[in-house]
Amino acid sequence: MAKKEFTVTPYEAEGKIDYNKLIDEFGVERLNDAVLQRIKKHTKELHLFLRRKVFFAHRDINWLLDQYEKGNKFFLYTGRAPSGPVHIGHLLPWIFCKWLQDKFGAEMWFQFPDEEKFLFKQDLTFEDTNKWMNENMLDVIALGFDPKKTRFIIDTKHANIMYKEACKVAKKITFSTIKASFGFTDSNNIGSIFYTSMQAVPAFLPSVLKGKNIPCLIPLGIDQDIHFRISRDVMPKLGYYKPAIIHNVFLPPLTGIGGKMAASGANESSIWTTDSEKDVEKKIKKYAFSGGRKMFFEPDDKKLQRIHNDYKSGKMLTSELKEVLIEKINSFLKEHQKKREKAKSQVDKFVNWN
Ligand code: TRP
Repeated sequence: MAKKEFTVTPYEAEGKIDYNKLIDEFGVERLNDAVLQRIKKHTKELHLFLRRKVFFAHRDINWLLDQYEKGNKFFLYTGRAPSGPVHIGHLLPWIFCKWLQDKFGAEMWFQFPDEEKFLFKQDLTFEDTNKWMNENMLDVIALGFDPKKTRFIIDTKHANIMYKEACKVAKKITFSTIKASFGFTDSNNIGSIFYTSMQAVPAFLPSVLKGKNIPCLIPLGIDQDIHFRISRDVMPKLGYYKPAIIHNVFLPPLTGIGGKMAASGANESSIWTTDSEKDVEKKIKKYAFSGGRKMFFEPDDKKLQRIHNDYKSGKMLTSELKEVLIEKINSFLKEHQKKREKAKSQVDKFVNWN
């Protein structure tokens, strides 16, 4: 077998990712026009990330919409394992979640598995993950989620309601499945082997707590799909629906070398949500690769097309393109940072719900 040109797992993303191949390899469905139109029937407009194919694949969206059309509303679920600051690529699925919450009146369950990176990174302590979790929560709240309809679920804090459910999932997954799926070996620690069952829980916990089956939609980066490929098989065995999933691409690193913006390390190729205007300017001028990076932050399709054409024809220089990008990102971050400050007084509402 030829050496793989790229790898995508929750714990590794490398090489130039071919999303078409991923669709086949993972057995997900393309988010085609028919599905997009079906979504639009309910939302009236299509979010930028749907139009631009930032979200490009799914599992069972048609089933989810069947349920919705029968009056069976779904809740949203996604998450973030705290281990460092948040960069703008992380925000993509969360921004989209906020839009879905508004359009479908959906409850949002946001998991902070504060043990995940503790288990997976040698030198990360619980003090570290806790510190980053508190920071990361501000970024999520800043996006404008409705505090009455949004719950943060923290694995160690909410262990009392999660652990039993995680054990039910774990009982139905073998060690060999985990090894094969994640590429683990006998030297992986035993906590990491159990972890996927903790990530499964929020997909059906609302059904447990409310005593009735509620459909679930999980927007996620495609690297997270494997967790649910495994646990979706388990959930019907426990009497719950399989969650539907909608997958987003990675925001490529500024250097354009493939993979995703890395969250770890003092990595200059990422733009953190707390970066100053000067930081952003410096990073983009120094590191941004100019090969027509997709601009996720320009909502106007026509304007983007114009920029694209001007750049391609040579009418617009790389340096000018970078100025546009710097301006876009800085105006987004300025607003975000203001809301992030305000979020500090709101954390309690999102965390203390049980
Ligand atoms: N494992 C994810 C991460 O590394 C965090 C996460 C928890 C998550 N639950 C999720 C991501 C559900 C997507 C969907 O950040």
